[in-house]
Order: sequence, then structure tokens, then C-alpha cells
Amino acid sequence: MKLGILGYPVTESMSYKVFNEYFELIGKKSTYDALNVQPEDFEREVHGILKEYDGFNVTKPFKEKIMRYITLDENARNMGAVNCVFKNKGYNTDWKGFVRSLEGIEIPKVVTLVGAGGASRALLYGLLKLGVERVYLVNRTFERAVRLSKDFGDHVEIIPRRLDALKDSLKESSALFNATSVGMRGEKFFDISPEDLSHLSLVYDVIYIKTHLQEMAREVGITVVSGESMWYHQAVENLKIWGIPFHEEVFKKVFEKVVLK
Ligand code: ATR
Repeated sequence: MKLGILGYPVTESMSYKVFNEYFELIGKKSTYDALNVQPEDFEREVHGILKEYDGFNVTKPFKEKIMRYITLDENARNMGAVNCVFKNKGYNTDWKGFVRSLEGIEIPKVVTLVGAGGASRALLYGLLKLGVERVYLVNRTFERAVRLSKDFGDHVEIIPRRLDALKDSLKESSALFNATSVGMRGEKFFDISPEDLSHLSLVYDVIYIKTHLQEMAREVGITVVSGESMWYHQAVENLKIWGIPFHEEVFKKVFEKVVLK
């Protein structure tokens, strides 16, 4: 099977490393190519890629752009983003990976979600599926939070807020979800201290390395779920869509080697 990852840039893609190694270990005659397409070439290249490839992942900046060239699974359409394609049909496994990574964990009804980009969109859709009733959507660029809240606001109460309202939002919430890249380079999570988190039951961080936020949450004894778990589960969902066997032990070994290092 001919598979790949379409994005720009995709050179450092985890999917590229994990899937190639996994296919080799299970002896599957599949290839997984890096489809590095410059945004200005997208329109010209996409038709050929759809013809040539059985399936592929889609990453930044094409998750929305790809939608008008393919048919869509209902969740991908409702969510407004595609990260996995199979036979010219688009799916979204990001939100599914998010939901799976929370299996067995009770989700409070009122939560704070920080960020209003693509990751936040996936989390918001997942939270909606998990039955959350109110979301404080905090973002540096307030207008982006307003826009995102409009997309899902018919299904759940979403209150867009500015960054300076983060502490107050946390006071009114029982869980914090970080969907920004803040913490990726070792930086602090805004002006939040462990005391601001101590009443929460859950801290979820989409970043897949250890961050200051995760450290603070652990310090005060809160359940922490991080991005590596979301990534793992979305990857497994991709295999399902492409109809490729999932050998848990092998996949876990590759995942641990590449992602957790
Ligand atoms: P993704 O698709 O991974 O979510 P994105 O669309 O670039 O990526 O969104 C990144 C998110 O992280 C945004 O919410 C962004 O805030 P803005 O909408 O204001 O850009 C947030 N973000 C990134 N770096 C940040 C920083 N240093 N401080 C505050 N927010 C930050």
C-alpha cells in the first residue's frame, strides 16, 4: 500500500518515523512517504497525490484545505478538519485519539481550554462528544477564540476569554486542557502556579514532552494526560482506517523508541 504524510514542512514528522519502522517490522509491503508540498504548490500537486496514494495523513497547513478535494466522513465534516485520507475520503483521527487517551478518566462538566488553533478544534470536538457542558476558551488572540466558539457553540456553552482571564477561568473549572505550544521549549505556563491548579481533577497537555505545566500538576497530585497519549491513539486509528494490522506490542515498541526516546 502506498501511504504518506502531506504537509509543510514534514521532515521532522513523528508519523514518518513511526510508520516506516512499524511497516518494516511487521513485514508489510507498505511505504510511507514524506509529501512535503509548499503551500503555493498545493492546488497543483493535490490531484496527483490523491491518484497515486491509497491513503495519507494530512498535517499543517493543509488539514482544512484538503477538504474540498475529497468526500468526508461525518465527523471530519462536523469538525472541519481532515488528518487522515483513505481512497479519496477524509477522516479525522485527532479528536478520536484525544477521546481514547481519556478512557477511564472522568471528565468534569466545566473545563478551561487554552488555545484556538487546530489542536484546540480537535479537543473541543472531543469534549463535546464527552458531554462537557461549559468550556472557557482562553486564547492570546481573542478573535480566534470567538471564531472557534461560534463553530461549536450550538452544542455546548463556550465562553471565549482573553489570556488575562486564565486564572479566573481556572477557578470556575475542574479541568485544564492546554492546546497551545506553550511549554514546548521549556517555558513556563503563563503566570500559573501550582496553587492555581490544586483544585482541578485533570490537566491535559497536548505537548508530548514533559512540560512545566505537567510538572506543576503532578506536584499537586493531579491526574495528568499528555500529548504522547493522544498521538499514539490517533496513529492507531489511522491504521484501522487504512486496514493495516495493528500489532500492539510491536507498535508500542516503535512508539517508545521514536516518540518517548
Ligand atoms: P495548532 O494547529 O497546533 O493548534 P496553531 O493553529 O498555530 O497550531 O495554534 C497554536 C495555538 O497556540 C494558538 O492558540 C496560539 O495563540 P494565537 O491564536 O494567539 O496565535 C497559541 N500560542 C502559541 N504560542 C503562544 C504563546 N507564546 N503565547 C500564547 N499563545 C500561544
